[in-house]
Amino acid sequence: MHHEENYVVRKASLEDIELLQKLGRQTFHETFRDSNTPENLNKYLEENFNFRQLTKELNKQGSEFFIAWQGDAPVGYLKINTGEAQLEFKKADEMEIERIYVLKAFWGKFAGQHLLDFALSLGRKQNLHKVWLGVWEKNFRALRFYEKNGFLPFSSHDFIVGDDVQTDILMQLTLK
Ligand SMILES: CC(C)(COP(=O)(O)OP(=O)(O)OC[C@H]1O[C@@H](n2cnc3c(N)ncnc32)[C@H](O)[C@@H]1OP(=O)(O)O)[C@@H](O)C(=O)NCCC(=O)NCCS
Repeated sequence: MHHEENYVVRKASLEDIELLQKLGRQTFHETFRDSNTPENLNKYLEENFNFRQLTKELNKQGSEFFIAWQGDAPVGYLKINTGEAQLEFKKADEMEIERIYVLKAFWGKFAGQHLLDFALSLGRKQNLHKVWLGVWEKNFRALRFYEKNGFLPFSSHDFIVGDDVQTDILMQLTLK
């Protein structure tokens, strides 16, 4: 077993919208500020983390948000989609991890591992066959993280940040 730094994962609801907005914006910014223009980054943040969009996502059937906490401090979040809520394929026995984001101060401290393990155990409880996700082809830290957890690449798709068309690698893990 790896070192657990006492993280607790709790489901997020509409009441957490301000926190999810803050976590969403900060983690995306910390992860991608060096690889996008400020204009494209801001456009993405405005479009994807406004209250209207977040409310829609929180209310969507099949989408669930979870926040990882260390004591009173939120350290990261997870968004999973099942069924029709998945962005592609929409297979009934699969789960998409749409977002798994940890605050930079907690990178390398197993918070992401904790969130991923949580998602996989949810998938197993629901008897799902497969978990899949998209990751930017140049996000090497995340790619390594998924690889070490047994995910394998199977396809790719476009991911738009502002006016920049990027390539996401799609990876999947068969649940046992
Ligand atoms: C990808 C992510 C979820 C992994 O979670 P984590 O808790 O950091 O996972 P781990 O503790 O296993 O560490 C992952 C790697 O980051 C490295 N790392 C640790 N601290 C770091 C730091 N300050 N800066 C850069 N890399 C660091 C670790 O060495 C580890 O690599 P290794 O497994 O080869 O040793 C997390 O790093 C994260 O949120 N990154 C930014 C958001 C992101 O890219 N999300 C995925 C989008 S698809």
